[in-house]
Amino acid sequence: MGLPRVDVVLGLQWGDEGKGKVVDALAVEYPVVARFQGGPNAGHTLYHQGQKVVLHQIPAGIFHPNVLCFIGDGALIDPEVFAQEVKGLEALGLSLRERLALGRGVQLILPIHRWLEEVSPESARIGTTRRGIGPAYADRYARRGLPLAQLDNPNFPQQVKELTAYHARHFSDVPPPEIPEDFWVGIELLRSLPRVDTFSWIRQFDRILAEGSQGTLLDIFAGTYPYVTSSHTTIAGVLAGLSVPPQAIGTVWGVLKAYTTRVGSGPFPTEIHGPLAAWLQEKGGERGATTGRLRRCGWLDLVALRYAIALNGVSVLALTKADVLCGLPEVKVRIGGSDTHPTYKSFSGWLTLNDENFKEFVRFIEQEVRVPVGALSTGPNREDWKRYL
Ligand code: IMP
Repeated sequence: MGLPRVDVVLGLQWGDEGKGKVVDALAVEYPVVARFQGGPNAGHTLYHQGQKVVLHQIPAGIFHPNVLCFIGDGALIDPEVFAQEVKGLEALGLSLRERLALGRGVQLILPIHRWLEEVSPESARIGTTRRGIGPAYADRYARRGLPLAQLDNPNFPQQVKELTAYHARHFSDVPPPEIPEDFWVGIELLRSLPRVDTFSWIRQFDRILAEGSQGTLLDIFAGTYPYVTSSHTTIAGVLAGLSVPPQAIGTVWGVLKAYTTRVGSGPFPTEIHGPLAAWLQEKGGERGATTGRLRRCGWLDLVALRYAIALNGVSVLALTKADVLCGLPEVKVRIGGSDTHPTYKSFSGWLTLNDENFKEFVRFIEQEVRVPVGALSTGPNREDWKRYL
């Protein structure tokens, strides 16, 4: 049994950096694209044959007919959302069932997990996506969660009922959710797909592209706790979620947007308010792909970026959405100071990405973080992409 080389795509900010597009562009070189953490809180927006498609759980390699898509043990699956997503992709003419494989350790999001987000106060305080992510990971770590391996257990329906009742009894004043028919439809779909041992399955291949979701600053340990998601969005998540040792890790692509956004609550040192923020939200389409919420917007933060690069061992950067900034007279970048009193360097704006001012902006980032920009996304479409390294 060999050991694949695992190249990785990670978000370096608070998510929504454009990882889906980077994965789609790189995927053609790999037999497998694998998710290793997260669940339907993710929303990877891609343009397929001119049509906007948002992927929540299925890896962004799915548009390449020769690429297998794998969901590894560190991830969560909501059967209802998953079935809808498969249906939506099939309606686009994709044949995908034979290209999907799921780790037996992937854990299920049940209707009760989504319900818990509605009735308990933490989710509102943090501003979660309300997809049941926190409660499902909490069950995983409390060792009462339901991995896909349990789908083969004849007692599975009983287990679902018991876990539902376990949580519902803490909220006697609110009636617990019914388990809808669509849940069981999703379960049947999951039963029909290969559910494999992640350790062995991964080792059949020579190369894997690991697709991160959310971003480094949302990591459960390394992020801005408690304003984080409940998984390891960082390189640590790749090892645990795909059952590979550190020697397997090859190129680590760090994806960053030319400015910063954040959905939900929590600290944001470079946040911009007022008309400029509204302009960025509008021009950059900064509205959550999963929840439809407007994203908070701010300048690029090199202090946070250096941290994310060091933490993940990033070898090359992919810079996205610099085209959104075209037309601004001035672009700022945080270079230091404290989180409450950040200091900035100011750049003259650019009209196109061929302008000298933009090149200077890129050179400055590269010098400051000592990692090259190896790819540039120049617009939303697949062909708006330049690869240098
Ligand atoms: P959760 O992952 O739904 O528990 O949400 C926790 C925090 O992570 C909230 O601030 C969410 O807005 C944020 N979050 C989760 N997934 C994403 C994502 O894919 N992009 C951006 N923010 C996300």
